[in-house]
Amino acid sequence: MNGEIITAYQYITNDLRQKKGRQIREYCWIVEGGLNFFDDNRMTYSIINVLFLWPSNTMKFISALLFLIFVLAAGVVPAYAGKAVSIDVPPASLEKWYKPANKRQVWLHTMFKLRREMQAISEYAKLNDQPGMAKWIARLEKDYNKIADMVPEWEKEIKPRLLPELEMFAEKGDAPRVAKTLKMIQRTCDDCHQDYQPLVTAMHRSPHYDELKLKGINGSQQSFEDNMEELSESVNRILIALDDGHNPVALKSSKTLASQLQNLGDSCIACHKNDAYPRERILGKATQQRLEILQSNISKGLVKDSQKLMGEIAVTVCARCHNTHRIVYDLRNALLPVK
Ligand code: HEC
Ligand code: HEC
Ligand code: HEC
Repeated sequence: MNGEIITAYQYITNDLRQKKGRQIREYCWIVEGGLNFFDDNRMTYSIINVLFLWPSNTMKFISALLFLIFVLAAGVVPAYAGKAVSIDVPPASLEKWYKPANKRQVWLHTMFKLRREMQAISEYAKLNDQPGMAKWIARLEKDYNKIADMVPEWEKEIKPRLLPELEMFAEKGDAPRVAKTLKMIQRTCDDCHQDYQPLVTAMHRSPHYDELKLKGINGSQQSFEDNMEELSESVNRILIALDDGHNPVALKSSKTLASQLQNLGDSCIACHKNDAYPRERILGKATQQRLEILQSNISKGLVKDSQKLMGEIAVTVCARCHNTHRIVYDLRNALLPVK
């Protein structure tokens, strides 16, 4: 259906150039039909509806079409044209289904259930196992409807009426219609995911570092961000000093770097609790050794080796940790005001 709409759009532009009024009108019906099929309340839908209050004179019609094409060109219909990606801010009511407002990640676990239920139904449909289907359709119905119970603002994103239909087709053993209805349900899943999923994941499941308190090297308290800035200064001070042959400065800074990383390491348990492995993986024995060899290399005046080792530390310590901890955090902050 998606492909058909896009093709219809192409014909509209094409025929418009040749001013083939009737054909344009027919293609519009295809588009309208397609959007009806998707049956949601997007802006595009209403714009196209306006188009269909047929203006009696052709000029008005043409200008309305031009407007439509302008809208298309402006990318207001990414869900259909599949060209642009839009990320929408989710409703605030979602928050109460996530930690810390909730004890569990209720929303996410409902999602996992939905996926399992969809899979069970489609597998039992292939086996024509009616009791199997009936059991999982009942569960799907319950969980699917929870979407709107949990987040009323998302009521229009789902189509509860598809579930009694699914049940009916399953009872009749009408496998093709079961498959078709599952597809229609899946489309509602996909549409919402396309609009909201990345941001919701970033907002509600990316770790926060703002409240962490770390020990500074002079014994005072510091924020996580301060620690990062100091780490960065130490790393660069070492590299500058090595470059310029100021080995005593490089040596002193490498010792500072080691104790800053030690202090950082003490913060891992804030999230990793009694799991010692994450700290070991990034700041454990291998890193300790690199830091010791670094100091000895600098003392011996081995500049090249020291520079190479600094590169290794930057990758195995800084970049490795940033990959899991920093990227989503920064992404969220870029998209939303800092919390
Ligand atoms: C816990 C794993 C972890 C390790 C190890 C780590 N970082 Fe970070 N870093 C983060 C996180 C998380 C952020 C984003 C949070 C923040 O800025 O408060 C960050 C942010 C930064 C920033 C940006 C700070 C700002 O002003 O926003 C710099 C610079 C930085 N790190 C440098 C380093 C350097 C250099 C190293 C290695 C010597 C390092 N980090 C090691 C997790 C880590
Ligand atoms: C009204 C919006 C909406 C609808 C409808 C919806 N979802 Fe979701 N779904 C989300 C959001 C938001 C997330 C991101 C949650 C997160 O990352 O914590 C998500 C995440 C998921 C995930 C987790 C993906 C992962 O591995 O991290 C699965 C699985 C999933 N949805 C399945 C489904 C299925 C199956 C349906 C349809 C039967 C469905 N969803 C319908 C909003 C929706
Ligand atoms: C604010 C919370 C938070 C803090 C503080 C934190 N982490 Fe993590 N870390 C996470 C989350 C979330 C994950 C991903 C889920 C998981 O593996 O537990 C993760 C994953 C990891 C992983 C597994 C990644 C992989 O590629 O296997 C390592 C290793 C790790 N952290 C090391 C550290 C170290 C070292 C520190 C302290 C310097 C630290 N973390 C501090 C939240 C945190």
